[in-house]
Amino acid sequence: MICLENASYFYPESGQPALHDVSLTIEKGEFVAVLGHNGSGKSTLAKLLNGVLVPTAGKVTVDGLDTADENNTLEIRRRVGMVFQNPDNQIVATVVEEDVAFGPENLGLEPEEIRFRVDAALHSVDMYAYRMHAPHLLSGGQKQRVAIAGIIAMRPACIVLDEPTAMLDPSGRAEVMETILRLCRSEGITVVLITHFMQEAALADRVIVTGGGHVLMDGSPREILTRRDELRAARLDTPQTTELLYRLHRAGIPVEADSIDIESCIASISAAYRKEKKQ
Ligand SMILES: Nc1ncnc2c1ncn2[C@@H]1O[C@H](COP(=O)(O)OP(=O)(O)OP(=O)(O)O)[C@@H](O)[C@H]1O
Ligand SMILES: [Mg+2]
Repeated sequence: MICLENASYFYPESGQPALHDVSLTIEKGEFVAVLGHNGSGKSTLAKLLNGVLVPTAGKVTVDGLDTADENNTLEIRRRVGMVFQNPDNQIVATVVEEDVAFGPENLGLEPEEIRFRVDAALHSVDMYAYRMHAPHLLSGGQKQRVAIAGIIAMRPACIVLDEPTAMLDPSGRAEVMETILRLCRSEGITVVLITHFMQEAALADRVIVTGGGHVLMDGSPREILTRRDELRAARLDTPQTTELLYRLHRAGIPVEADSIDIESCIASISAAYRKEKKQ
């Protein structure tokens, strides 16, 4: 769906590339999480995916459309929507449903089609009951879901979310993650989620780790999130489960150190315990 071929990006003011010679393909329907320490190029990568930025070298295509060709810009923006960190900066109207209608109105759709899409989008993010509410009175998680509905109403094939949960409390984060997962799993929308939360990355199909403008790692969550030393070298935390199993292993307890969720972590520890008891 989106293809980067040796893509680099230099900000004119900056001495070194924010992104350097990155090649990767994001498949249709995939849920990709992007992890990386501050300044590692995550937001730059996100902006290359829908042509907000055009690579200074190499090429980015969306369904074969080159983002560097201005004739493709509108179509690319329609296919790849973006959600940012701060919901307050993304909400433009004083009533929830008007806010969600803003995008489809800009597409020049018929009023009935707009009505239909707004209602469907609000149902998708489970905010239909709040359609007549004032956005500024909603919780952070609810506002972010309204912002996502505004994007969904444009019917994109892909949504790119740049740290959408960074400003939310734990329940807001959970609501937004549940929404993102449903959009991907039930509605087949391709998701690129930039996050610094390991638990969020663990839910993806694929995890990409950026560092110093490069892609350092790319694989399944289980493959990537258990590589403790490499994650630490990329200045990232390791999931608590990985860290716990790593320390037990180091202390000589024969646990399998490849779990990234709590259930399999518990299973791994109890299997090791049973093994010890038998001996
Ligand atoms: N508008 C800009 N002008 C100049 N340099 C920039 C600009 N935006 C980002 N950079 C630089 O490009 C590099 C990558 O930045 P980017 O915002 O892509 O990283 P990030 O991984 O999203 O960081 P964060 O975790 O802080 O959001 C950094 O060194 C940053 O200082
Ligand atoms: Mg960023």
